[in-house]
Amino acid sequence: MMSISQYREAFQEYLDLKVQVKEPENLYEPMRYILSLGGKRLRQVLVLMYTEIFEGDYKKALDAALAIEIFHNFSLVHDDIMDDAPLRRGKETVHERWDINTGILSGDAMLINAYQLFENYDGDTFKELARLFTKTAMQVCEGQQYDIDFETRDDVAIEDYLKMIEYKTAVLVGASLQMGAIVANTSTQCKEAVYEFGRLLGIAFQLQDDYLDAFGDPETFGKQPGGDIIENKKTFLYLKSLEASGKSEAQQLEHLYTINPAETSGKIEAVKTLFENSGAAALTQREIEKYTEKAFKVLDEIDISEEMRSLVKNPPSGYGKNLNPCIDCHALMAIKAGEIMDKRGYDILATGEVLG
Ligand code: IPE
Ligand code: IPE
Ligand code: MG
Ligand code: MG
Ligand code: MG
Repeated sequence: MMSISQYREAFQEYLDLKVQVKEPENLYEPMRYILSLGGKRLRQVLVLMYTEIFEGDYKKALDAALAIEIFHNFSLVHDDIMDDAPLRRGKETVHERWDINTGILSGDAMLINAYQLFENYDGDTFKELARLFTKTAMQVCEGQQYDIDFETRDDVAIEDYLKMIEYKTAVLVGASLQMGAIVANTSTQCKEAVYEFGRLLGIAFQLQDDYLDAFGDPETFGKQPGGDIIENKKTFLYLKSLEASGKSEAQQLEHLYTINPAETSGKIEAVKTLFENSGAAALTQREIEKYTEKAFKVLDEIDISEEMRSLVKNPPSGYGKNLNPCIDCHALMAIKAGEIMDKRGYDILATGEVLG
């Protein structure tokens, strides 16, 4: 198995070959732009890596990995319109740089392009990949609609929120891992288990994304700090805060979520103080750990060779810098609070540096 940085390089080479700007430029240029901003490349590395964990050839998974990454980027272009977000990966969002119509149509073209890439598979593999992709993409839309609906609803329960993030985010992580298993043509049991692993990890991942939206380091987060608070997103932080606060603080928080001031910093600071004082910030961290642990329990039971399992779980030493596949695996998969998604985690993934 290769290191994360090697998978990312192989992927980048493939992306450069396949995603090129042609006429009309205003359709293809935004697509190239958003994809060139990089990001962590989490999902497509998972597709390639899990193909190899199940003893397939990662090269056969490049089209599936590219489809996943293009779909993910499509969802971000449209998400940024829906969330009125000015910044993505430290740069202007597509609809800010061009305009909303460009974002809509380029996004649509990306979705179509993602589907097209599955045409490079035959028979059962094609059918399985396309079926999984369709189901997942529809769930992502459902999750995104819940997310928007919840902004103006005042009866959102924690379980509603968990279902929403499962759909908008976690199913795509599960699908990425399962695509690796499909390309490697492994057993049904493995395909299901690896999906479940990714689904649980994906829930932890979105909880962490929500946490960082409020409390992340603005220098490295790459998005508008406090964007979720500005948009009145009913995150775990918000819902737990309401649950854990006294009457007056809860009313204060509810009130803050009904106002939309032009100058946002006062609202953001007041909400963050309530998130912290209610204990919701710490509870969110605990929830992230809970889902990460649940995910790793599922991983324990997946039927992979002992060699692969020890590679994934017990990093041996002596591989040298950038060449320790196990530590790389951990860097990618250990989406625990403060481990992967903090500044250090971003640096690791941005530079391909490994932990340790
Ligand atoms: C952002 O995903 C959208 C979420 C589901 C939280 P990532 O955090 O993976 O974004 P990039 O691709 O690394 O920029
Ligand atoms: C986005 O969730 C999920 C999808 C794009 C499907 P967020 O709205 O939290 O993602 P960010 O924070 O903008 O990356
Ligand atoms: Mg968003
Ligand atoms: Mg959103
Ligand atoms: Mg977010």
